[in-house]
Amino acid sequence: MDTTSDQRQPVFEVRGANKHYGGVHALIDVNLKAYAGEIVGLVGDNGAGKSTLVKVVAGTFEPDSGEIFVDGERHRWRSPLDAIEAGIETLYQDSGLAPDLTIGSNVFLGREKMRRGLLGRLGFVDQRAMEKEALEDLEKVGITVPPSKRTVAQLSGGQRQAVAIGRAISWARKVILLDEPTNHLGARQAQEVLSVMRAAKEKGLSVIFVSHTLPHVLEVTDRIVVLRLGRVVRDAPTSGFTAESLLATITGLDEVGGAPES
Ligand SMILES: Nc1ncnc2c1ncn2[C@@H]1O[C@H](COP(=O)(O)OP(=O)(O)O)[C@@H](O)[C@H]1O
Ligand SMILES: [Mg+2]
Repeated sequence: MDTTSDQRQPVFEVRGANKHYGGVHALIDVNLKAYAGEIVGLVGDNGAGKSTLVKVVAGTFEPDSGEIFVDGERHRWRSPLDAIEAGIETLYQDSGLAPDLTIGSNVFLGREKMRRGLLGRLGFVDQRAMEKEALEDLEKVGITVPPSKRTVAQLSGGQRQAVAIGRAISWARKVILLDEPTNHLGARQAQEVLSVMRAAKEKGLSVIFVSHTLPHVLEVTDRIVVLRLGRVVRDAPTSGFTAESLLATITGLDEVGGAPES
């Protein structure tokens, strides 16, 4: 495995992560670093361990072994809320929005703004403020929602995904993990998602982009980490990959008599 010799402190780091599902060793001694203001592509064939790694980082479950650092400080997630509190937001593969809720409610799902009620004791959800702030947050990352469309059910697939990403970006303070965010999107919608990712990078966030759409990965990322059968087999700047070499690294053809590893 190649390592990047970067002297900056990573905003986020996983060291030596292992995860088993019964007899399946889904992550094997995985290291992953992410720096502020960069987009990291996380690629690999089906079953390579991408989603498992995302879940370990997001606190969905603890790895069997391994350490997690944020800004150089060791953390241990007891639940996804711990990761969120540390500034890490996640868009899970196939995660849904709540279709019957308004866009604002979706952006704020689970952390609704409470307005102080009478005597400052009984709070209630401040719907008006929430809708306004949600749309402003989305606009900041370049997503405009037509005024006629106010619930998620009224949105197209691309718009829904944009809202889901907008939600994650508007809350993320340090890291945003996007697991296959352009799946099932048309070409133009996928491009919109890529622009939103660039906006997140400009904001100084570290974006981890899981995808098997290699042209998107080559287009938008600064660095690519390749997982194969649970192991990181390559971690290198995107500029060092071609479409062919990336595919060969993913499939392992680079090691079985194909192109020599560059
Ligand atoms: N909940 C689970 N229970 C059992 N095995 C799982 C579970 N989730 C993933 N796996 C297995 O772990 C490996 C990695 O899966 P996953 O992380 O989903 O890969 P990817 O996202 O790269 O396609 C695969 O062999 C998969 O079958
Ligand atoms: Mg997956």
